Amino acid sequence: MKMIRLTRHRNPKHSVTKALTIPMTENLRSDSGGIARAAALLKAGGLVALPTETVYGLGADARNGTAVAGIYAAKGRPSFNPLIVHVENGEHARRYGLWSDQAEVLAAAFWPGPLTLVLPLRPDHDLSSLVTAGLNSVALRVPAHRTAQAVLQAFGGPIAAPSANPSGRISATTAGHVLAGLADRIDAVLDDGPCTVGLESTIIGLNHARPTLLRAGGLPIEAIEAALGEALAIADGAKIIAPGQMDSHYAPAAQVRLNAKNARAGEVFLGFGSIPGDLNLSPSGDLTEAAASLFDHLHALDAMAKPIAVAPIPDHGLGRAINDRLRRAAAPR
Ligand code: TXA
Ligand code: MG
Repeated sequence: MKMIRLTRHRNPKHSVTKALTIPMTENLRSDSGGIARAAALLKAGGLVALPTETVYGLGADARNGTAVAGIYAAKGRPSFNPLIVHVENGEHARRYGLWSDQAEVLAAAFWPGPLTLVLPLRPDHDLSSLVTAGLNSVALRVPAHRTAQAVLQAFGGPIAAPSANPSGRISATTAGHVLAGLADRIDAVLDDGPCTVGLESTIIGLNHARPTLLRAGGLPIEAIEAALGEALAIADGAKIIAPGQMDSHYAPAAQVRLNAKNARAGEVFLGFGSIPGDLNLSPSGDLTEAAASLFDHLHALDAMAKPIAVAPIPDHGLGRAINDRLRRAAAPR
């Protein structure tokens, strides 16, 4: 990170006592120059937020412990949360995770795409131990997004990237969201417009007796079960296997009330389908559209600094992931 005094995108929430170590966040375009710059910053141990089809990720060289530590610092993330390692393709994934027939089936069906596989960690890996937070497993993802792929190829190594938001806050689906939360805490953001899926990847654990759903996300569970030919086990909520499942993990600053038919006095209302609101996740009742607009609408309503009431969302397909996020947003804290 560059040592500078004057910065662009200064975030007033961050203490001025850190002025000498605050980097100036570069706003990179997703062209060949921007991608080369992003790769150079990553090679130098920098932090670069980059788009994936799910959400923006806060990337660092997964082999560089200092760089990875920078991710936790920038996010203010509890250090026991392991990070997803992004790789170019399944062949690269095999360098880090112990492969199995089920890994092969899911990788062939859904990579590149919004799926993360948790596999036993290979003993001969060269990842920073901070990436896995000391676990003997590793979360691996091959993103489909053209810019994520271009950066992975230009960088030529594994990129650790959690969602590019301060810990416990709403995930970023635009470069503007990234800067709103992390400006001057990271070296650069690579802007390629809004994310198309708009929900984090679905996480499947293949390090248990049965394939296990660790986090619902952008890839419907039904599609995964169809590919595997068996039902997924559901992670035991009492035992935090994926810390992303923590209650109140996706919390807006405002209080959130679910399954509301209409707004009470003083509330802003997030509608769905025929139930109107200040904003509507999908006037036509389309769950894919609702997923793509979820974080955007939560950010926008949160900015109004009033309690948020949310219309009922059908609990199937992507609706399950949306409801999972909304329950966390509404959890007591
Ligand atoms: O779509 C996504 O998945 C985005 C984009 C940037 O790829 N990334 C993302 O990362 O959502 P993050 O760090 O916000 O969430 C990663 C989740 C966390 O809940 C973490 O605990 C879990 O993955 N995880 C990582 N490694 C794990 C492991 N070895 N075992 C179990 N869970 C793991
Ligand atoms: Mg996250």
